Amino acid sequence: MENLIKDIDIISPKVAQACDFKTTEDENTGKAKKLYIESYGCQMNFSDSEIVASIMKDNGFDTTSDFEQADVIFLNTCSIREKAEQTVRKRLSQFNSLKKSKPELTIGVLGCMAERLKEKLLEEEKIVDVVVGPDAYRDLPNLVSSAEDGHKGVNTFLSREETYADIAPVRLNSNGVSAFISIMRGCDNMCSFCVVPFTRGRERSRDPYSIVQEAQDLFEKGYKEVTLLGQNVDSYKWSPEENNKARLNKKEEEVSAVINFAHLLEMVAKVSPKLRVRFSTSHPKDITDEVLHTMKRYDNICKYIHLPVQSGNSRVLELMNRTYDREWYLERVSKIREILGDECGISSDMIAGFCTETEAEHQDTLTLMDIVKYDFSYMFFYSERPGTLAAKKFEDDIPLETKKRRLAEIIDKQNAISLERNKLDLGKIQEILIEGTSKRSELQLRGRNSANKVVIIPNNQYQKGDYVKVKITECSPATLFGEVIS
Ligand code: SAH
Ligand code: SF4
Ligand code: F3S
Repeated sequence: MENLIKDIDIISPKVAQACDFKTTEDENTGKAKKLYIESYGCQMNFSDSEIVASIMKDNGFDTTSDFEQADVIFLNTCSIREKAEQTVRKRLSQFNSLKKSKPELTIGVLGCMAERLKEKLLEEEKIVDVVVGPDAYRDLPNLVSSAEDGHKGVNTFLSREETYADIAPVRLNSNGVSAFISIMRGCDNMCSFCVVPFTRGRERSRDPYSIVQEAQDLFEKGYKEVTLLGQNVDSYKWSPEENNKARLNKKEEEVSAVINFAHLLEMVAKVSPKLRVRFSTSHPKDITDEVLHTMKRYDNICKYIHLPVQSGNSRVLELMNRTYDREWYLERVSKIREILGDECGISSDMIAGFCTETEAEHQDTLTLMDIVKYDFSYMFFYSERPGTLAAKKFEDDIPLETKKRRLAEIIDKQNAISLERNKLDLGKIQEILIEGTSKRSELQLRGRNSANKVVIIPNNQYQKGDYVKVKITECSPATLFGEVIS
């Protein structure tokens, strides 16, 4: 998922300066104890840490940005590639001496690695006290208090219902302008390379009324942008009969039909024309024309789609169990261009060196990139994950040097295309939403255009949260630079 997966094997112009994890910030509401959370992996995990902080807050914890001050340390972990897990293991070993000098400290491993490894983590990592999977966060206060009494605990129960719909997240990962809203959990797709269906469980959609309410609350608190999150947002589906009966108190026409992603998008877009709406991730097999038409109808739905292709070759796509082929994918891209035009941003994820991939098949990925012209991509080499279909069925037979060389070719191609795409913006007038000062200089402001590109402007009278019209004057592969049009 975009912006998003920050483990260190990601190579993308967009995330070149990104750190590989996020931590909590200091919050002082007078609670007795301090919680420090470090979050790895995708936006879903960052969003989950906000739910965890909320649950812990109700149980006597403020967050801290300093792990040395913490009574409880949580690592919210990712299993997507081997490197992501290695990073967490290294981090745990760094906490060893801290735990020795402060034996009352509780250390918890949450998230996908907890789910994948379960009890084994307690055996392998002696300093860990609690191991809790993504659907069991309501049990954290119990597990932590048992750990304080010297009893280690594991809860990796995966639920078919849990969506944490009633929990108001503590906004940890936010600049006060933009926030994540989780709209569904889990994934039913079983792509052969992917560990997510095993770590996140079955797909389930959250009550749409709680989603709209959350967007409304955020807007009232001054937020200007929400990103609707799910592994496969286009398969969002909520039917009143199957869900919360309390909703049936609503007017008949409000509850009679099944709500799909296009409907949900529209409901959130209607909160306010001044609230930008983004979403991630779209699966090429599921993105519908109805979603594209809804995007077109609302100016505040950002014209940007993260549409991971993984490979440009149909045989490899079949082995990956992506359930679409090259032609299907290219047809979806043509439809996006037809309905939303050339200015709609499109990004992708790519995997180099999947099992049995030939040089010619790798070339197909490069030629597909030339056709689609992605604005940017998240690019990886294949990392076999235990328990996945690919690990069971196929040999991980592409040598590491070959995987790395193919990845480098994909990255070079993407950098050239990103620059080419950014050059098309030169001279254009675009509306950007200011997110804060530029990372490089306090004298510049950083915003984002509808297509999700970062735009840097001189720091004059504007503040974060302002919408500003700018003319694009310069660009690099990763960034646009503009001047304010008064
Ligand atoms: N639900 C999203 C992807 C989530 S995982 C989708 O279907 O598009 C984010 C990305 O990590 C994937 O798109 C894929 O490119 C990459 N990824 C997943 N498993 C991987 C593996 N075993 N090795 C390398 N990259 C992987
Ligand atoms: Fe993984 Fe595929 Fe689900 Fe994405 S759609 S999370 S790649 S199984
Ligand atoms: Fe996300 Fe990593 Fe889990 S990408 S869903 S945190 S395996």
